[in-house]
Amino acid sequence: MPPFRGWADLVAEDDLARAGKLVVSHERHEILLLWNDGSPVALSNICIHRGRKLNEGVMLGSRLVCAGHQWAYEIATGYCAARDRYQPRYNLEVADGRIRVEFPARRGPA
Ligand code: FES
Repeated sequence: MPPFRGWADLVAEDDLARAGKLVVSHERHEILLLWNDGSPVALSNICIHRGRKLNEGVMLGSRLVCAGHQWAYEIATGYCAARDRYQPRYNLEVADGRIRVEFPARRGPA
């Protein structure tokens, strides 16, 4: 079966705002939703380095630091400046209080 492409309704924006961080599975994707300075962001939850789960990492200011080997990703873009690489991130929109995410993820600058 080909990989899923298109938009999917994942969670209520209020739920993410309250939790700050949620992991949602959709098809074969594991998505990390973060509440970043008043806006939702969707990254792949699987670190591009060695596959640790990014939801186990720590948010420090504008960055998310992986618990595996401390690669630090800009939350808004997925960019890791120290490695000049991008964590995959998903286009996202909010409609009627629901967060919708586009598949597949983007793997690079906007
Ligand atoms: S697995 Fe994330 S930094 Fe190594």
